[in-house]
Amino acid sequence: MSFNSTIYINIKQLLQTRDAEEFYVPGNKMDELPKIHNAFLLVENGIIIDFGNMENIPKKLENTEVVDLSNSFVIPTWCDAHTHSVFAGNRSNEYLMRLQGLTYKQIADGGGGILKTTQEIKNISEEELYSISLKRIIKMIQNGSGGIEIKSGYGLTYESELKILSVIKKLKNNLPIEIKSTFLGAHAYPKELTKKEYLNLILNKMIPDFTNKKLVDYVDVFCEKGYFGVSDSEKIIKKAKQLKVPAKIHVNQFNNIGGIQMAINHDLVSVDHLEILDDNDIYALKNSKTMPVLLPGCSFFLDIPYAPAKKLIKNNIPFALASDFNPGSSPNGNMNFIVSLACNKLKISTEQAINAATLNSAYAMGINEKCGSISKGKLANFIIFKEMDSINDLVYYYNDNLIKNVIIKGQVFNS
Ligand code: NIG
Ligand code: FE
Repeated sequence: MSFNSTIYINIKQLLQTRDAEEFYVPGNKMDELPKIHNAFLLVENGIIIDFGNMENIPKKLENTEVVDLSNSFVIPTWCDAHTHSVFAGNRSNEYLMRLQGLTYKQIADGGGGILKTTQEIKNISEEELYSISLKRIIKMIQNGSGGIEIKSGYGLTYESELKILSVIKKLKNNLPIEIKSTFLGAHAYPKELTKKEYLNLILNKMIPDFTNKKLVDYVDVFCEKGYFGVSDSEKIIKKAKQLKVPAKIHVNQFNNIGGIQMAINHDLVSVDHLEILDDNDIYALKNSKTMPVLLPGCSFFLDIPYAPAKKLIKNNIPFALASDFNPGSSPNGNMNFIVSLACNKLKISTEQAINAATLNSAYAMGINEKCGSISKGKLANFIIFKEMDSINDLVYYYNDNLIKNVIIKGQVFNS
């Protein structure tokens, strides 16, 4: 028998229930996570139609499948707003070298780092890159991610960047989740060209061509000492603006070179990393609609400072959380761990972490009209947890898989 709709009943707690018009929550408001005890959730054609307390369950329901979720907590799927999850190879040797005392910079200068992965991308076929990336992303969905932003940036030549962007496009076409594609040609400089030549290639060929081929939702740049300075980063952002592509930036990861103020002047969608922040940066963020995206998985793995989340909250600034899944600085795409780690290291509450990893991160990747909350009209993308005492279990049992099912567009995600 086939049903038109599904009603989930007796949900122990339905969390992150909001008006679809609430785009993000800043500062102290992040501590509020709206919820309904003993709830129902009605889904039709992959869209949330209605939800509320069991007392108000719709009376007449024809041709509707009933799913009893007694004892289950339900939250919207994670939105992972910053990943480099299309990559090849493995840099575990560098990790072990860092554990022996070498720095990220020393390893990169010695031929490791981003350029090592670039070599792997050069040597792999598009089909093989698609196949290993697909497996990786299926695992991310099984861990509850229903929206994933994926960056290029391990190509650094026209052909290799095109290879990565084509793989992202194929993933978009073949997977039911929301995927956004970001062109991060300005991730590092290839050895074969001068800095000037590579910057010209990005500005005059890659950005225009890839935009034309409709492969790019965002443009990104690694604004950092030894990578792209503020004025080069600004050139890239201006080019993107000219072509009406919104931009993001990797900024203040190791050094503060003034990238945040520049990013805010250009109204970027998000500023990502922010491990190093000063008062001028806070002031700039405070007066903007740009979303900070914090990446505690990267701080954990590189053993560098964590972004000052408490300071952002104190200044009524919102932030999102993302995995930064990549082979060099964050080989983990499991958002459950990121949420738990964020509580432990950024000293935030479960509610703040969930808001950051759902509603605010949906905003950071431009999918807040479809994802990020349990709202009428949004996609029926949600996580059903195994039996828990409280939502804090999610943070507390940091190494347990508490997920029972991931629902994407109203269907149990099976791969
Ligand atoms: O987001 N910061 C720059 N890019 C990545 C790291 C890339 C790598 O080491 O492969 C990041 O952390
Ligand atoms: Fe990154």
